[in-house]
Amino acid sequence: MTNLRVAHAYDRNRYHPPEVSGKIATAIVEPLEREWKDGAHVLEVGVGTGRIGMPIVARGVQLTGLDTDTEMMTAFRSKFAGVSKRVTLIEGDAQDLPFADRSFHGVIAVHVWHLIPDLTRALDEATRVLKPNGYLFEGWDSPAAASPELEIQDAWCKALETLGHPVQRGGHRAALRASAAYLSAKRLESAERTIATWEVSHTPLEVVEALEDGLYSFTKNIPLELRFAAGRAIKPWLSAKYSDLETSIKTPWAFHLRTTRVK
Ligand SMILES: C[S@@+](CC[C@H](N)C(=O)[O-])C[C@H]1O[C@@H](n2cnc3c(N)ncnc32)[C@H](O)[C@@H]1O
Repeated sequence: MTNLRVAHAYDRNRYHPPEVSGKIATAIVEPLEREWKDGAHVLEVGVGTGRIGMPIVARGVQLTGLDTDTEMMTAFRSKFAGVSKRVTLIEGDAQDLPFADRSFHGVIAVHVWHLIPDLTRALDEATRVLKPNGYLFEGWDSPAAASPELEIQDAWCKALETLGHPVQRGGHRAALRASAAYLSAKRLESAERTIATWEVSHTPLEVVEALEDGLYSFTKNIPLELRFAAGRAIKPWLSAKYSDLETSIKTPWAFHLRTTRVK
């Protein structure tokens, strides 16, 4: 489980500019509004700090957010004063949803499939709780392949390897491929598109701090002292590369959405 400081740090680190949040909300809400004019009820599994859920609630959608981590949802709660009647947050596991069949018009899953031990079970559950013709929305952010932020992450991962702790990466992409295979085996058609692009400015120090704080899924199982040891190990390289560690470095990002209609 995260602590509240890390939950807020996640929220800051994975921040979407308002126009990006707006485009993501539109991409999710529009098909729901077209189909269900009296309002839609959506479940977000792994709702976290409400980065995706909150802009959807602001558009009038009823949201049930489910997460195994209560601290992430505490960070979400701090944001929804005034619209709380449209939000229900539940501690629970995406592999065993505490809802009846056909309960929701939409299910959202953003950056969560790769964290779930039994993805097939979570997909069985997500499709079970969808109403006929309901939508499964799977979303993810991706940074440009060659960016200063990724270069620092790579150097940090290499330092960890030297410290005897090789890092497993790529779990997120593998889970998305597995989910696509699951949906296609069920003969469900998906459409994938890029919803928004934007640039994020961080300082080199902030990139290292996010790694030390364990904000990425690939850092989850690395002991705290090793995360900091790798941070210290790359400092000489980092200082040689950036004369000012507080300088702003920009990373281009994109948000992608795969939408699947469940029969
Ligand atoms: C990387 S965060 C993404 C949060 C949010 N979807 C977003 O994009 O900002 C992943 C979230 O999934 C939650 N999570 C991990 N495993 C889960 C599970 N089995 N069931 C429900 N939530 C889970 C974590 O606690 C965390 O809040």
